[in-house]
Amino acid sequence: YVERTLAIIKPDALHKADEIEDIILRSGFAVLQKRRVHLTPEQASDFYAEHYGKLFFPSLVAYMSSGPIITLMIARDQAISYWRELIGPTNTLKARQTHPECLRAIYGTDDQRNALHGSDSFSSAQREIRFFFPDSIVEPVATGQ
Ligand code: CMP
Repeated sequence: YVERTLAIIKPDALHKADEIEDIILRSGFAVLQKRRVHLTPEQASDFYAEHYGKLFFPSLVAYMSSGPIITLMIARDQAISYWRELIGPTNTLKARQTHPECLRAIYGTDDQRNALHGSDSFSSAQREIRFFFPDSIVEPVATGQ
């Protein structure tokens, strides 16, 4: 069934945004919403709150607020798992060895700067879509009265 997920083109891949958006469309996704934003460190911390306390958290926040990003609400059949599969493993360097055709292997920089983000579950997709597109309706819309 058709799902929505949140994709982010991160600062290190922004110069390839047009090429990546083409791949998204050719992979059967519809782009329902799109925003270019430059997060403050506070906003980046809030978005990645689940990683608070981890060793890499401060540098993750610095990276994600280092320049503009593009956030996209995308939809297709099984969008959440399909987009995760397309972007590949979190660590770009490992991705290059095990999944050389995935988008992080192609566009990522290192173990942290991995070019792309994808929501990892239905509940994170809902939260993350709401974070960037607060006006979009995520719940099924009631029909009739
Ligand atoms: P993302 O899928 O956006 O979710 C959390 C991000 O934190 C991840 O991509 C990476 O950019 C970064 N990250 C995750 N694990 C590590 C790690 N072990 N070392 C450095 N950065 C990491």
